[in-house]
Amino acid sequence: MEEQPSILEVNPKENIIINRRSFFGTLLAVGAAGMGAILAVPVLRYVLYPLYARSKNTWSPVGALDTFSNLSKPIMAPLDLKQVDGWREVDTSQTVYVTKDPQGELGVLSSICPHMGCTVAWHESQDEFYCPCHGSVFKANGEHVSGPSPRGMDPLPHEVEDGKLMVKFEYFRENVPNQEVLS
Ligand code: FES
Repeated sequence: MEEQPSILEVNPKENIIINRRSFFGTLLAVGAAGMGAILAVPVLRYVLYPLYARSKNTWSPVGALDTFSNLSKPIMAPLDLKQVDGWREVDTSQTVYVTKDPQGELGVLSSICPHMGCTVAWHESQDEFYCPCHGSVFKANGEHVSGPSPRGMDPLPHEVEDGKLMVKFEYFRENVPNQEVLS
């Protein structure tokens, strides 16, 4: 049987060319894989963004500051909200209560009951908030008085801008003793 030439017996010039080709081939493959990985990161981040992004509410005007200058009891105010959820912007509405403490400082309370999310009502005659679902009662400043709610009504971040009271509406985890922002 005829013996096959070993690798050492192949023409050395041919061997060098083959080695060069395979070296550049590997280099090209590694470069392409690296570029692919670099390009994939922003694409993946964009595609997966809605999965890890928390929806956010922007600041909304509650009303002109003058409207609340003679406030002696909590007043309900409607809010138009812009909720940014992943790539989507959703227009929604909510209600808040504007309050004033004895020092004249304005406060804003969410009207969502911290127990299970019903809308809390202001009872003028009783001088207190009352939740119609399970009977939680809160003081005019939102402090919990009685009923199953584990905490007082939720205060919301607010500020005055160009003579307007602005509020950042937030949603909180229900039925837990401490305020936990959800969105
Ligand atoms: S939802 Fe308000 S007391 Fe239950």
